[in-house]
Amino acid sequence: MKISKRLLKIIDFIEKDEVVFDVGSDHALLPSFLVYHNICFKTYAADNKEGPLLKAKETIDKYNLHDKVIPVLSDGLENIKDDVDVIVIAGMGQYTAQKILENKDLTKYKKIIVQVNRDMNLMRKFISDNNYTILNEAVVYEDYYYEILVFNTDYHQNYSDLEIKYGPFNLKNKNQVFLEYLKFNINKYEMILKKHNSEDLNNEVACVKEIIKKYF
Ligand SMILES: C[S@@+](CC[C@H](N)C(=O)[O-])C[C@H]1O[C@@H](n2cnc3c(N)ncnc32)[C@H](O)[C@@H]1O
Repeated sequence: MKISKRLLKIIDFIEKDEVVFDVGSDHALLPSFLVYHNICFKTYAADNKEGPLLKAKETIDKYNLHDKVIPVLSDGLENIKDDVDVIVIAGMGQYTAQKILENKDLTKYKKIIVQVNRDMNLMRKFISDNNYTILNEAVVYEDYYYEILVFNTDYHQNYSDLEIKYGPFNLKNKNQVFLEYLKFNINKYEMILKKHNSEDLNNEVACVKEIIKKYF
């Protein structure tokens, strides 16, 4: 089964036999891979639209995963099942992902894995404001830098502004892909600065350079 580096990185955070509810599953590749490779015995492929659910059913048919990968029509967590351990939200905008998580009782889930296409800092702010705990983070490159974050609802004091912006584990883990991501951002900002000077952007470049010096 062919699956992207991005989805594989999310799978790294899932442990054997956890029951996964994949919100916005579309093609159901992630929940299907988990069952196909015997990482999980049961997963849910949830989506709020019939079209993606049809694609999910095609994948389930193709790999003969009936009764193990279960398609669910669900707007966010509306129809989540009682036996779920882990929620995955991937490939969506930050606003949509946050709306799905906002004002929900997430206490009974072992972890929630989120990959939004940009603005992960806003997701970390949401987590910090709710005093949730970030358990791990990763950055993966696949024609684009994708950030992945794992959290649960255990109490954690508010994260610092630096942690919210860049991620406490990204800073701690000394991950080489994160380092490349920071350098990529410096280049991007410096290109912009060549055309338009901006104090904010200059400060941002200085801040990222300082992070590299301090953490790598
Ligand atoms: C770009 S796809 C991502 C597919 C897969 N998760 C991935 O990362 O490759 C986004 C999917 O999220 C679904 N979606 C958007 N809002 C949703 C919501 N509120 N509840 C459930 N699914 C939603 C869309 O229908 C679409 O199938």
